[in-house]
Amino acid sequence: MRTIRLAVAGLGVVGSETVRLLRSRRESLCRRLGARLELTAVCDRQAAARRLGLPTSVRHFTDPGRLAALPGVDAVVELLGGLEAPRRLVLGCLRRGLSVVTANTRLLAHSWDELRTAATKGGGRLHFEASVAGGIPILKALDLSLAGDRVEAVYGILNGTTNFILTRMAEGMEPIDALRRAQELGLAEKNPALDLNGRDTADKVSVLASLVTGAWLRPDQVRTQGIQEIGIEDMAFAETTLGRRVKLLGVARFPEKAESRVEAFVGPSLVPLEHPLASVQDEFNAVLVRAASAGDLMFYGKGAGAGPAASAVLGDVMALGRELLSGAKPAAHRSGPAPRLCDSDCAFYLRLGALDRPGVLSAVTATLGRLGISIATINQPGGCDPKNVPIIITTHPTSPGTFGRAVRDILALPNVSRRHTVMRLLP
Ligand SMILES: NC(=O)c1ccc[n+]([C@@H]2O[C@H](COP(=O)([O-])OP(=O)(O)OC[C@H]3O[C@@H](n4cnc5c(N)ncnc54)[C@H](OP(=O)(O)O)[C@@H]3O)[C@@H](O)[C@H]2O)c1
Repeated sequence: MRTIRLAVAGLGVVGSETVRLLRSRRESLCRRLGARLELTAVCDRQAAARRLGLPTSVRHFTDPGRLAALPGVDAVVELLGGLEAPRRLVLGCLRRGLSVVTANTRLLAHSWDELRTAATKGGGRLHFEASVAGGIPILKALDLSLAGDRVEAVYGILNGTTNFILTRMAEGMEPIDALRRAQELGLAEKNPALDLNGRDTADKVSVLASLVTGAWLRPDQVRTQGIQEIGIEDMAFAETTLGRRVKLLGVARFPEKAESRVEAFVGPSLVPLEHPLASVQDEFNAVLVRAASAGDLMFYGKGAGAGPAASAVLGDVMALGRELLSGAKPAAHRSGPAPRLCDSDCAFYLRLGALDRPGVLSAVTATLGRLGISIATINQPGGCDPKNVPIIITTHPTSPGTFGRAVRDILALPNVSRRHTVMRLLP
């Protein structure tokens, strides 16, 4: 029976669990694969301390670069986190024709072309299921199961930290307390900036869109807004008056030819209460895929955590094992022309604060009217502070560019506060 030799870089949350499962499920994995999976080396800054009960036959290193040059290794599993060390390791492996499994979203989103080119030239294979939505098998679904369909759009709740915070806020908890609770439960990092400002979700949208189109959508091309401006007053108004729930959505739409046009954005969005994404609560993730023939497909589960991420990593190891056993040459990566960005019309929510003076409301509505934006609803929920009276407006579908211009003009009006909240309304 053939043996596939693995080296694992990073023995933190995901790496330790991956190694534990590799060892405890060794026999069933071997039966399913028809080959032995052997852990030959691990790498971690504290590898000596984190022996995890490994036998002495498993070599340990503290420099990840050593794994790319180890003789006899068939694949490297990169679970280091960060950007530079993983980038050097993964590129080093792929260029030498060594296959790689990684869970590193940032690495993929920021170095997509470089990695795919290295894999194609070097002959290594690259698997990365755990990088988007953790334990949810969304990437293989898009890449393999839907290969014969046309994916029209992907809508995702892709960040468990912000979904947990928004869930608590919808129950009336202040954002700062919701964040503290998430940190206490280990659901948010000490520095949660990349979660709160939407950049983590934008990285995931970049990976999803690049996989669907075959062309790299850079994360900085994804129009991104975080949840920092959302208050519990928005959540309450959304539920009681609009019948909607606030979710941080990452969206990629492929409106015409999927190969060349992409609309991509991340932002707090108002989802109708009866929509399947509205019921995704706490730290859960979900992805709704709209496909031309299959219709709407909903994927739901845990987007992070040792178990879900290690499950996806081991799924990749098994897929890679089958490919290596088949002896088939790796398929060349699809690479299309750089995607052209586009926008589609959308209804918006705008909450403003204004001084309680005559004429403010008419100046706001006149600004929208001048740009041809039609108002769907307008509310003044009432506030006791005459220096900051809330005005909440929803619009009929309009172009995001025109709406952005209107918001800039409105914020420049006298007596209107700079603090505001903008959200899209999901149809
Ligand atoms: N945690 C999740 O739920 C989850 C889910 C999906 C994907 N991911 C991705 O999986 C990857 C690993 O995440 P994690 O949560 O397991 O991270 P983690 O707990 O921080 O573990 C990373 C491990 O790699 C080691 N390491 C980092 N840089 C190193 C270097 N230059 N040389 C040697 N060792 C190094 C770290 O050592 P030190 O402890 O000494 O720093 C640590 O043991 C990340 O890319 C993450 O985005 C994580």
